[in-house]
Amino acid sequence: MPSTNQVYNTDHHYGEKTNSSNKLTLAAIGVTIVLTIAVLGLAVATLIKVNQTISTETATTTSASLNSVLAESIRIQDVMGHLNELQRIATANNGNRAVSTSGFNQTLDYITNSLSIYTNYNVKTSFFTIRQFALVNNPILISSINGVVTNYTYSNDLSAADFYHIQFSIAANFASFQQISVIPGVGCSDDEWSKASVSPAGKVALVKRGICAFSDKGALAAKYNVQALLIYNDGASPDRISPIAIGLGQQNNLPALFLSYPVGQALADAALNTSSNTGVRLIINVENLPLSPIGNICADTPTGDATQTIVVGSHSDSNRLVFLGSGSAANLGLAIALARLFQTSSYEKYKYRIRFCWWGAEEIGLLGSDDHVKQAKVATAVGERLQDYLINLNYDMLGSPNYIFGIYDGRTANDATPTQALPGSNKISALFRGWFEGQKLPWDFTDFSGRSDYGPFLAEGIVAGGLFSGGDDIKTQEQRDRYDRLLGQGAGGIAGAIQDPCYHQPCDSIQNINPFAYEKMVQAAAYALEYLARQGDLQTYLYPDGRPTRTNGQSSRQKYDSINEYFRMPYL
Ligand SMILES: *[C@@H]1O[C@H](CO)[C@@H](O)[C@H](O)[C@H]1NC(C)=O
Ligand SMILES: *[C@@H]1O[C@H](CO)[C@@H](O)[C@H](O)[C@H]1NC(C)=O
Ligand SMILES: *[C@@H]1O[C@H](CO)[C@@H](O)[C@H](O)[C@H]1NC(C)=O
Repeated sequence: MPSTNQVYNTDHHYGEKTNSSNKLTLAAIGVTIVLTIAVLGLAVATLIKVNQTISTETATTTSASLNSVLAESIRIQDVMGHLNELQRIATANNGNRAVSTSGFNQTLDYITNSLSIYTNYNVKTSFFTIRQFALVNNPILISSINGVVTNYTYSNDLSAADFYHIQFSIAANFASFQQISVIPGVGCSDDEWSKASVSPAGKVALVKRGICAFSDKGALAAKYNVQALLIYNDGASPDRISPIAIGLGQQNNLPALFLSYPVGQALADAALNTSSNTGVRLIINVENLPLSPIGNICADTPTGDATQTIVVGSHSDSNRLVFLGSGSAANLGLAIALARLFQTSSYEKYKYRIRFCWWGAEEIGLLGSDDHVKQAKVATAVGERLQDYLINLNYDMLGSPNYIFGIYDGRTANDATPTQALPGSNKISALFRGWFEGQKLPWDFTDFSGRSDYGPFLAEGIVAGGLFSGGDDIKTQEQRDRYDRLLGQGAGGIAGAIQDPCYHQPCDSIQNINPFAYEKMVQAAAYALEYLARQGDLQTYLYPDGRPTRTNGQSSRQKYDSINEYFRMPYL
């Protein structure tokens, strides 16, 4: 799952890290490490503590019936085996499985090979393309204030840099100094853009960091036809002075740079001073790289009504600094366990087709699931159309060391969610809750605002639900005490520590999995799948008020454009 905006310093996916230049990647990683070295030390210390706590105190739950044949049939050691393989692939490929790397391709190979060995599912890999980004050389930023020319410093050591590049900036080569349009506030609304110092059209817009995703600022800048975009840090705290490494997303079509707070503020002050003459020159050379093909894998049960499909999804990519993939491995374990059960005559086949999917490029903006939904919107083949999908169950992170048993809370769906998807999504929340309570396990509701691959489905009115064991949120004292009470003294984890101390960090490896939590989450996922698949009329169960009426191929461009509202970049 992409990071939340809470702790910028603990996050490593500053945006669309898809450049293929080793130099740049290494530089970016170097920068990231410099930025987060202190936090990392803390995280590793916390992890060791969490693991010690958890390994010495075995959780003591009753071995209540799992209330599901599928859940009973899942062998956690099989799921851990898949996870070990993902770890092996990462280790053998510069430590990660990010898109546009050999580690990612090998991950897809592992998933498709496992499916073809252990299941009789119809497996299909669909490709979509993403932009790659790399600089040819260091960009140049020069200002002229009342004739005084300043050539600013670009450096991969961000603490020494006046400015830094922004991923997916396009090239620029300004022959002369261009006027600056200072956008008031933080440039997140039309109101602010329409009150700019001078009309932004054709000018270099200068915008302060804050409130909305950087991609939202970029979209507004494009809307107001700027010539280039300069974003600057806000100086709100000592760690918000230097420029930072961000991306503007795949859609960006503007030259853009990120400035330190002092440089940004000085330029804003000068540009706002009517008696001074201020302009900037930008030179940015970007490599002309081909689009990179990224695969989505979907595997269908050969039986079940294809016009009433249950989609079970997880993402196959890691970020650039390893991200283990507990969801992918669980999804594979689930798919294989179901295939095995279907091969036994005593287990009745499901009425509904199950489609297990592994989305690519989740970490850089839910690109795989978004592409799948876009394709489904225009598909005409039976079983491939959006109308053929009843629900999307999403499993992202399931084994965080200082875990919560997190259930997506249907009530926190984004305001833009079509109302028909809400009753069903709330039912899924209640279904999971009922299972955890029946198992005498603690549980928590967790954010459902669209920050993982269910987002594009939900935005189109498809019921969604799923589980999440925690990322960069802190486990509270109340949670720890409640988990202790139900799981046994000492098994509740650590209050005041983040739920996944290695979230999006190099220490996110096989050691960073809580096997007890992982097993329970996988069982809960199996339970929910079987429960839904055994409904006599799943469509009415999920859509008591009817389904959204849709004409396939209709444009809802606006809704898709708002994907960025669901996918909040972490570096506000
Ligand atoms: C990954 O697979 C794609 C699609 O087959 C291919 O175009 C690309 O070159 C591969 N990338 C790497 C790094 O192996
Ligand atoms: C600004 O500095 C860069 C390198 O730091 C240099 O390549 C460039 O020529 C300088 N431009 C001017 C106008 O001084
Ligand atoms: C505005 O610019 C003029 C001319 O450079 C300068 O004398 C004056 O101090 C500036 N005003 C402020 C508020 O900085």
